[in-house]
Amino acid sequence: MAGLWRAALVLLTIAAPAAAQEAVIASKPIVIAHRGASGERPEHTLAAYQLAIEQGADFIEPDLVMTRDGQLVARHENDITGTTDVASRTEFADRKRTKTIDGISHTGWFTEDFTLAELKTLRARERLPQLRPGNTKFDGHYEVPTLREVIALAKTASAKTGRTIGIYPETKHPSYFASIGLPMEAVLVAELKAAGWDRADAPVFIQSFEVNNLKALKQLTRAPLIQLMAADGGPADKAQPSYRTMATAEGLKAIAAYASGVGPQKDMVVAGDGTVSPLVADAHRAGLKVHPWTFRAENFFLPSGLRAGANPADHGDMSAEIARFLAAGVDGLFTDYPYQGVQARDRHSR
Ligand code: G3P
Ligand code: CA
Repeated sequence: MAGLWRAALVLLTIAAPAAAQEAVIASKPIVIAHRGASGERPEHTLAAYQLAIEQGADFIEPDLVMTRDGQLVARHENDITGTTDVASRTEFADRKRTKTIDGISHTGWFTEDFTLAELKTLRARERLPQLRPGNTKFDGHYEVPTLREVIALAKTASAKTGRTIGIYPETKHPSYFASIGLPMEAVLVAELKAAGWDRADAPVFIQSFEVNNLKALKQLTRAPLIQLMAADGGPADKAQPSYRTMATAEGLKAIAAYASGVGPQKDMVVAGDGTVSPLVADAHRAGLKVHPWTFRAENFFLPSGLRAGANPADHGDMSAEIARFLAAGVDGLFTDYPYQGVQARDRHSR
């Protein structure tokens, strides 16, 4: 009888959502679908996120920007010229603008000049048609999703599959949006609260390349925060001189005061020639998780030794690249190809 109770307890533990999330996060490296399964569908569409979930991703990643009426939508940048059909929509021709965002001049159409209802009339397009020609057949099919729709998709899929599918939202250009009267942090936290995800064990990581908005978020939510870092440059809010400084042992200790982990550009962890940096060891010593970005199968994005042939669009050995990072001890990874990411992760975990 005692054995039966023990078995029932084990089953209950497995079924509890919080415990399932613990398992996802703690037991093996997580696979984060970067902009959805963006190698196989136009990025940041519900179709891209849905495919990623079907392929076994643990988290789906919406990059977030603001609409004129204060809603969060999933786009990699507020300039939507390249990833929607807006340039061909005559009714919006007079919305074309030139703006300076994070010190760089952009000419095009911007989410903050559209209401959500107007944005919903647009349709997504493939960002990289030359590298991903197969995705162009989906051009014109899908809407720009809201954060709320992405959360609903993750929740519905979790209920259907019995897996915990989390979201990994990134605040894009937070200082810029605050400067035009559309701060994003409170809106994001309100959406998470409405979803019941304002908890330390929620299936959520909030990421940002800026520092001060993560520190502000630390005061607003208990959801885990991730400090993004690029190989070059520094945060747009100038809170730190450079990402290189932030990636030192001292810098990582400072990040641990407000974040649960770091999301470094992959070369900062393992160089193209396979050399492993001290970043993972230093981050772990500081108590930080490490989730590098971005693993992409096309030769164009792979180190020379892992390419197959000379065509930049052909696929090389992304799985071997991921294996190097798993061997280096990363706690998760962002990939445009979640199916291969999950396969590589599971091989490593076995
Ligand atoms: O958020 C991780 C990675 O996505 C950062 O790069 O430019 O693809 O958002 P980006
Ligand atoms: Ca991102």
